[in-house]
Amino acid sequence: MRYLTIALSKGRLTELSIDLLEGAGIDCSGLKEKTRKLILTDEKNKIRFFLAKPADVPTYVEYGAADIGIVGKDTLLEEGRDLYEVLNLGFAACRMCVAGPMELEGNMDNLTITRVATKYPEIAKEYFRHKRRESVEIIKLNGSVELAPLVGLSEVIVDLVETGKTLKENDLVILDTIAEITARMIVNRVSMKMESERINRIIVSIRDQIDMKKTQSE
Ligand code: PRP
Repeated sequence: MRYLTIALSKGRLTELSIDLLEGAGIDCSGLKEKTRKLILTDEKNKIRFFLAKPADVPTYVEYGAADIGIVGKDTLLEEGRDLYEVLNLGFAACRMCVAGPMELEGNMDNLTITRVATKYPEIAKEYFRHKRRESVEIIKLNGSVELAPLVGLSEVIVDLVETGKTLKENDLVILDTIAEITARMIVNRVSMKMESERINRIIVSIRDQIDMKKTQSE
């Protein structure tokens, strides 16, 4: 039996991803240890794991270097990779939004926006150029995007909003919601065919856990 390889996103999603995999009977103990080792293994189930930057997880899965991945929908929309999105895991819920100063609220349709700052240039491009048919300059930033309208780098931003605290504390508001975001499970297209039995077993087990959590919270 060959090893199945799972790519996990480093950061916010790591802990809950491990919980779901452990719930599916996969031994993730290696992932919890402080180690510089990049690939960890569950020998019994013939599964290997690695942690990668979220933006790289869909790349590993598209090329088949990982059979399965766990990553945010924001990253999937931004990367636009060719793979199967098999499960909405429901956790890490937030929204991809256009946000800006309060003065712009309720006025989006009359505004001429020239510059948009974002960590998500493809999502911003799709929204402004293709959906709104506006020609804007998209400025790629790597974090603290909320700074941009405060210091005059751009009129608005495209960014994730979770609790809304960052916007509120900086006197910014949501101007439009582009997409609802949660963590997703993704699968390589060839692996889905070649290893369908093992992969489906994992999918079903994780889906059952999600359904159970939903029932418990109702
Ligand atoms: C994310 C996002 C917002 C913030 C939203 O940034 O880009 O800045 O969290 O969360 P809130 O609505 O709960 O305030 P992150 O913390 O990942 O840091 P970054 O800005 O440096 O990317």
